[in-house]
Amino acid sequence: MVALSGVNLRVERGEFVFLVGASGAGKSTLLKLLYREETATRGQILFNGRNLGRLHPSLVPHVRRKIGVVFQDCKLLPNKTALENVAFALEVTGASGREIRRRVPAVLELVGLSNRLRACPHELSSGEQQRVALARAIVNNPAAVIADEPTGNLDPDTAWGIVGLLDEINRRGRTVIMATHAQGIVNRLNRRVVALVEGRINRDDRQGGYGHGPF
Ligand SMILES: Nc1ncnc2c1ncn2[C@@H]1O[C@H](COP(=O)(O)OP(=O)(O)O)[C@@H](O)[C@H]1O
Ligand SMILES: [Mg+2]
Repeated sequence: MVALSGVNLRVERGEFVFLVGASGAGKSTLLKLLYREETATRGQILFNGRNLGRLHPSLVPHVRRKIGVVFQDCKLLPNKTALENVAFALEVTGASGREIRRRVPAVLELVGLSNRLRACPHELSSGEQQRVALARAIVNNPAAVIADEPTGNLDPDTAWGIVGLLDEINRRGRTVIMATHAQGIVNRLNRRVVALVEGRINRDDRQGGYGHGPF
């Protein structure tokens, strides 16, 4: 069973890329290769010129810090507050207490959650939970943010809020790669669209729409 084959993709620093395609097309696998959750059986994955497949295991956390990741299910720690969830991502990098106290409230403000700092995930709406996940993804000031169907569980209005934040994150200079099924979002943002069909790139449009192809 091959998840991806013959994929040749170059993403420049600062780009915003939508990755579209039917379930099972290979979107999540492609993203996992990019944040080194999977390694390819053949070929190379280069991030900032570094071959992720040959990365020494001790360097994996170092590269991961430069890539923020957001999932459909936010994967927040259930017994921790919004502040604690975001702080945890900094603590594991060895950041000082002072830095944590400065940066965590700032990123939570950026995602519009200044008034919910002490709420736990079960006290937050799904849109608010995804905002916490976004804050966590950017708190280390990563070069890139990878989002795997981040709006999959959200109603359209809430989804727009999350996409607006990803757009803002991109405008502040970070590369954003987002896998999605949300046709309306893809069509309206008018960004680069890479379409996967059965593990192959079927289309790569500079300013594309979701399209009406076989996916
Ligand atoms: N951990 C895995 N082990 C083996 N096959 C997998 C694994 N994850 C996904 N696949 C398979 O790889 C293909 C691509 O899956 P995936 O990347 O999850 O697609 P998408 O995110 O586009 O829905 C599918 O055929 C899927 O069944
Ligand atoms: Mg997927």
